[in-house]
Amino acid sequence: MKELKAIILDTCRQAEIIDGYIRLNVTRGTGLGLDPKNINRKPSIMVMVNSLALYPREAYETGLEVITSSFRVIPADCIEPRVKCIGKYACNIAAKQEANRAGAGEALMLNQQGEVAECSGDNIFLVNGKHIRTPHASSGILKGITRDTVIELALANGYTVAEETLTPFDIYTADECFLTGTAAEVIGMVSLDANKIGDGKPGPVTRDMMRLYAERTGIGTSFSVAVAV
Ligand SMILES: Cc1ncc(COP(=O)(O)O)c(C=O)c1O
Repeated sequence: MKELKAIILDTCRQAEIIDGYIRLNVTRGTGLGLDPKNINRKPSIMVMVNSLALYPREAYETGLEVITSSFRVIPADCIEPRVKCIGKYACNIAAKQEANRAGAGEALMLNQQGEVAECSGDNIFLVNGKHIRTPHASSGILKGITRDTVIELALANGYTVAEETLTPFDIYTADECFLTGTAAEVIGMVSLDANKIGDGKPGPVTRDMMRLYAERTGIGTSFSVAVAV
């Protein structure tokens, strides 16, 4: 672990990145073919560092317009929700391309049952009053670390939180909706398929979560301050 930290820090230094996104890719080894017997099973580690802005800065003030993708998530019994595996991303990239073609900021992905799972690169939260809901891990999401932090912050700040099965109807009838991710941080989602969510602007709970997350992590403060005033 100490050695890995030193490699990551060295990569950041060489790339002159002070505030950026770090991604580690761990492979199963080198060689051809699916059968692990036939490869050299010594994992390779790739360290990628860069600045990464998933969404334009102004989207943190206006919120994202989202479409429902025709690509569904891979079920939780195929890829464990805690595993961020490259194989998962073919569908998510296709979903993001759909959003781009539609001029939308993000693509909502449902599961095979038509339940809400997540967006192409973020987890989703719905707000009704002081109650916050997010799809259960069994819905086929990546169980993101920002999702965990936001749940913890919400519970510590007077909100109730439930992880449950949600449908697009729950989105249409939510007061507010927001998305979370390491790169996205916390960002409002203000419409789904051109149907306004709440009053079509990032609402007070979304802004509160943006502020709480910025305070906890020390990142994203500039947009959070901008929307909190
Ligand atoms: C599909 C998907 N869901 C959710 C997330 C959010 O996960 P995290 O908060 O761990 O960054 C990501 C982040 O990359 C993602 O790619």
